[in-house]
Amino acid sequence: MKLIVGNWKMYKTGEEAEAYLHALLPLVAKAASRIYLAVPFTAISKAVSIVKDSKIVIGAQNMHDVSEGAFTGEIAAKMLVEAGAKFVILGHSERRRYFHEDNAFINKKVKRAIESQIQPLLCIGETLEERTAGKTEEILKRQLTECLAGLNAQQLATLIVAYEPVWAIGTDQVATPETAQTAQAFCRKQLQELFGEEVAKHTPILYGGSVKPENAKELLSQHDIDGLLVGGASLSVNAFSQIVNIEETNL
Ligand code: PGA
Repeated sequence: MKLIVGNWKMYKTGEEAEAYLHALLPLVAKAASRIYLAVPFTAISKAVSIVKDSKIVIGAQNMHDVSEGAFTGEIAAKMLVEAGAKFVILGHSERRRYFHEDNAFINKKVKRAIESQIQPLLCIGETLEERTAGKTEEILKRQLTECLAGLNAQQLATLIVAYEPVWAIGTDQVATPETAQTAQAFCRKQLQELFGEEVAKHTPILYGGSVKPENAKELLSQHDIDGLLVGGASLSVNAFSQIVNIEETNL
């Protein structure tokens, strides 16, 4: 079953989230895919209560690595859990780029998420400069190795990985299905080398970066694309529901 994750980023107040979800629910009631939505912190509780009888799973877009402390403006895993978040996006390229998060910090966050029983969705991906320099595989290998350091196969039972080439995020420059497939097959191979066959087989590897209803089907038909991480297009009920409703049987 494919996993479609919406990432609202810093969009939608609680009120806007409410209107969106009431419109989305009837449109996705029969969807074959699993549906996750990473919403702003302030919309989590409200979103959780609105979707409670549906298949939609609500999560967060970031968290800090320590359990609590003097970190003004940050949010802890247990606070997300209390609000009802079931998963958390970690290591998104916007966090890496604008907030200078590195692999070591992301590794601590992944560990805290697992310990707090909140499902980690780890984002990795190369920049255009790295791709042009032929370093894509080297970067993906380093990100997986360092972000998942010190964890074992059992701890990674709930891990989700998203391959998001930085040059494709918010740019309308979607990776071709072949480019995404090649990178994602490489990620799976790395997971196998690092943690064994079970983790490689069971970890959903999503593609993210300028996914739209028009390109989603072709991406989803690739062997190593287990789902999609959708930013901009997830803000529209219409676009997101179209992506979620792509029939698996037609892939
Ligand atoms: P995009 O964002 O779909 O707007 O390119 C994807 C993401 O940042 O997760």
